[in-house]
Amino acid sequence: MSKRQRWATKTGLILALAGNAIGLGNFLRFPVQAAQNGGGAFMIPYFFALLVIGLPMMWIECAIGRLGGKHGHGHAAGMLWLIWHHPAAKYVGALGLFIPFTIGLYYVYITSWTLGFSLFSLLGSYDGLATREAMGGFLRGYQGVVRNQHFGSVATAYLAYLFTLGFTVFVLLGGVAKGIERLAKTAIPLLFLLGIGLVIRVLTFGTPDPAHPDWNVSSGLGFVWNPDFSELSNASVWMAAAGQIFFTLSIGWGIIHTYVSYLREDDDIALTGMSTVGVNEFAEVILGGTIAITAAVTFFGIDGTREIARGGGFDLGFQAMPVIFQRVPLGEMIGAIWFLLLFFAGITSAVAMSQPMVALLEEGWEMTRQRAVTLVTGASFVLVQPIIFFHAYGFLDELDYWVGAVALVVFALLEIVIFGWIFGIERGWAEINRGAAMRPPTFFKLVIKYVTPAFLAVILGWWLITEVPAKLMMQGVSPQARPYIIGARVMIVGLLLAVFALVARASRGWDTDAIHAVAADGDRNGDCDRDNDGGQPR
Ligand code: PHE
Repeated sequence: MSKRQRWATKTGLILALAGNAIGLGNFLRFPVQAAQNGGGAFMIPYFFALLVIGLPMMWIECAIGRLGGKHGHGHAAGMLWLIWHHPAAKYVGALGLFIPFTIGLYYVYITSWTLGFSLFSLLGSYDGLATREAMGGFLRGYQGVVRNQHFGSVATAYLAYLFTLGFTVFVLLGGVAKGIERLAKTAIPLLFLLGIGLVIRVLTFGTPDPAHPDWNVSSGLGFVWNPDFSELSNASVWMAAAGQIFFTLSIGWGIIHTYVSYLREDDDIALTGMSTVGVNEFAEVILGGTIAITAAVTFFGIDGTREIARGGGFDLGFQAMPVIFQRVPLGEMIGAIWFLLLFFAGITSAVAMSQPMVALLEEGWEMTRQRAVTLVTGASFVLVQPIIFFHAYGFLDELDYWVGAVALVVFALLEIVIFGWIFGIERGWAEINRGAAMRPPTFFKLVIKYVTPAFLAVILGWWLITEVPAKLMMQGVSPQARPYIIGARVMIVGLLLAVFALVARASRGWDTDAIHAVAADGDRNGDCDRDNDGGQPR
């Protein structure tokens, strides 16, 4: 077996993981979720989900990833099979390839919009479109949803996409240390710089509209930070908070596993996992929460912001923000910075989403990296076509619901049951603590075994009862859109089966001895863990 790729430096690894986790989710999705779900009312379930789902899942996925890497697996399919020697394990793990690949298809596309809009800001292309409606027309023209005076076709968006995809190919070809790590080392510090700059600018907006003295920075901040207990009995706020945690921390995707597999076998993961969570949360609640929400409240008021949020992430980021930029001095520059920030956030995540599949082809199909990258990105290019051209019919949203919301929770639930119950919490806990630069508090053992799985099961059950049937029956979908929605579903099933087939074939070469090694190691670790802190017998 060829030598595994490794991260070059510790800082590089942390930045790469940060680049993976910090994405469009932090700057576009989070503000919208918070505003849709009542600002301060959202933050309580959000932090609860962070503690009960986010942090424990991060540790679990890091543990599984490091173990996988030690035995030559860079993707969840091989890894779950290592800790649960059952044919089903590899198909559960296959979800960890299917999810990032599928979402990656449209994530790259959306990332490419930010590049386009960064240029438009700089060039003043949308100058004069001073209302959200006018900006909305510009955005929909760009997306090819309508033809208008701004755009006659989707060609500009297509070009930006090609450039963005080309850039991810270039990074992936460089490999883990020379591609992904190098990108993160430049993009993430820049992202923080731009983000902090924008926060400062937004915090100095003051009260721009004399007709509305209560539209100002402090009511923007208050909207997010004044806790509001009235909505706590509303289940959908809890669901939204949990969904955001999955999205923003990249957990339940199969990607954390892949990144961590490039660590050395005794490198710390406990502190690494926690730092990743910390850095991501800083970017999310401090930068992401302040920039878009405060700006929107300052210029459109709280009711206006809620209304914008109802339109989704793109309305806030691509319509409301450009309108705001036109009302402040040097708006072109600030707009360009906002979209560039989004681009850095997006590109470092987009690259991550392809890497598990690249790893599967390299390791399981013995392909060279060039070949694997070409195939994965080539397939992405083919499969993105309906997403680009059928955007108006909700193709993208359909994929995003089933894969970007439901599948994540399904995968996470199965994974945590395999980890906490089949692999066993004692072994699992010992694995998290092996080489740890910081020992996670022991009560997380209970959280991992009982609380997180129970919470995930409740979320899934709730969705199955309240949302999924209506979604499945396409309630509220117009007759013209139906064929496209069905098309999106065919694509989901087709892709899932294709990934199963790829995994099945790759698994023929997997080394069964590794399983015994993992089991034996696990027992040994479990034992010494007991010796160390005199824990209870299994
Ligand atoms: N966490 C990223 C975001 O917030 C999304 C992502 C998920 C990126 C999984 C990589 C892997 O946008």
